[in-house]
Amino acid sequence: MTTAKNISLTLKVWRQKGANVRGKLETYQAKDISTDMSFLEMIDVVNEKLTLEGQDPIAFDHDCREGICGMCGAVVNGRAHGPEKGTTLCQLHIRHFSDGDTVVIEPWRSRAFPVIKDLAVDRGALDKLIQSGGYISANTGGAPDANTILIPQEVAEKAMDAAACIGCGACVAACPNASAMLFVGAKVSQLALLPQGKPEAAQRALSMLRKMDELGFGACTNERECEAECPKEISISNIARLNREFFKAGFFSSVK
Ligand code: SF4
Ligand code: FES
Repeated sequence: MTTAKNISLTLKVWRQKGANVRGKLETYQAKDISTDMSFLEMIDVVNEKLTLEGQDPIAFDHDCREGICGMCGAVVNGRAHGPEKGTTLCQLHIRHFSDGDTVVIEPWRSRAFPVIKDLAVDRGALDKLIQSGGYISANTGGAPDANTILIPQEVAEKAMDAAACIGCGACVAACPNASAMLFVGAKVSQLALLPQGKPEAAQRALSMLRKMDELGFGACTNERECEAECPKEISISNIARLNREFFKAGFFSSVK
């Protein structure tokens, strides 16, 4: 069991008023922060002080603060979601930092994710990827119908692992090419592995990859930074499955 203590950090935070305005790092002191606090609670404390001083608080995205919604995210000391493996920014605790540390906090950087303000970026491009094919269009019935189709345990586990993707965009931020292949791979896999998603699997892969290019995401060159930084530890084997579906579409589909 660890005992909470208070530490002080120097924050260098990216401040930017909007997408078309130049941004820069500003320095703030985060004083007497409990090591039991989360990273976002620490920013809350800094923002409370800024607000009381009549200054503009730091804009950042968040919602559930439980690691499940995918809303939070920032690059902390060069790492998407910070230094802890398999952890979202909202679940990162101050105990992972030392008294006197300097912490650099920047937004996701990708052409497809324009900055809205400070650390908040527009991740609507991920929604557009889903709209381009990340769904099942056939009527698959209700839960009782699904329960009549037996799925091997190993296949169900793989589909559930892929479905753990929360759409946070850290994979894009971590990739030197700003590729969304891990996100698309996870979405294609969670559907393609199950009988209800198989009929449209190749078309889905083709449509989502075309949309990925159109939205300005880069290509995958097997850097594996996405897998290393993903807070849900989505495996790049999902990218291999996406590529297989894509090649099937090329060989067997008449999709234009
Ligand atoms: S694959 Fe991982 S990093 Fe990428 S959006 Fe999904 S949860 Fe986030
Ligand atoms: S705020 Fe929901 S995952 Fe972090």
